[in-house]
Amino acid sequence: MKNIFTYSLIVIFLFIVIFLGLVFFNEKNRNDDNFSNLVSMENASEQILLGSSLYLENCASCHGNKLQGQPKWNIEKDSDGHNYAPPLNGTGHTWHHNQEYLFNIIRYGFKKMDPNYKGKMMGNEDLTDDEIWSILAYVKSIWPDSIKDKYESTNKN
Ligand code: HEC
Repeated sequence: MKNIFTYSLIVIFLFIVIFLGLVFFNEKNRNDDNFSNLVSMENASEQILLGSSLYLENCASCHGNKLQGQPKWNIEKDSDGHNYAPPLNGTGHTWHHNQEYLFNIIRYGFKKMDPNYKGKMMGNEDLTDDEIWSILAYVKSIWPDSIKDKYESTNKN
């Protein structure tokens, strides 16, 4: 009788250990997710991979390799008196714009909205539609989950 009691205790104890292990493992995975976007691209779709290489080629010189934008983008102007390139990584206001608007900025720069625009975001009219969507998919894939969720709920298109 005593043996059965000890045996059950051990089984219960093992269950608790396994349960805590699973909880901990899940928690760790969830935390890692927030930081893995930039480092691990192995789960990325082909569209995002294409977007990432087009980004590096066409955008990173101004917006930064990690989409971090230029330092002081929101407090100073460059030596020509133009705006610096803002971050596209979710810390700026990029995610406030809907997809069509972002698409148009990437293709035509700001001159489509303001014919007298004299700043540095000139657009990329030689990129195809698919290429621009893939850059946008890449940019969005970098955003933290909280921003992605907000974006999806405010921009249902
Ligand atoms: C020559 C530098 C330069 C290059 C190259 C460039 N940008 Fe920009 N971009 C800017 C600047 C500067 C701004 C801010 C425009 C302003 O306020 O005049 C901007 C603004 C933007 C915005 C609006 C951001 C917001 O938060 O409102 C997006 C989106 C954007 N760029 C995407 C891109 C993408 C994608 C590429 C590559 C295909 C690219 N840019 C290439 C300089 C550049």
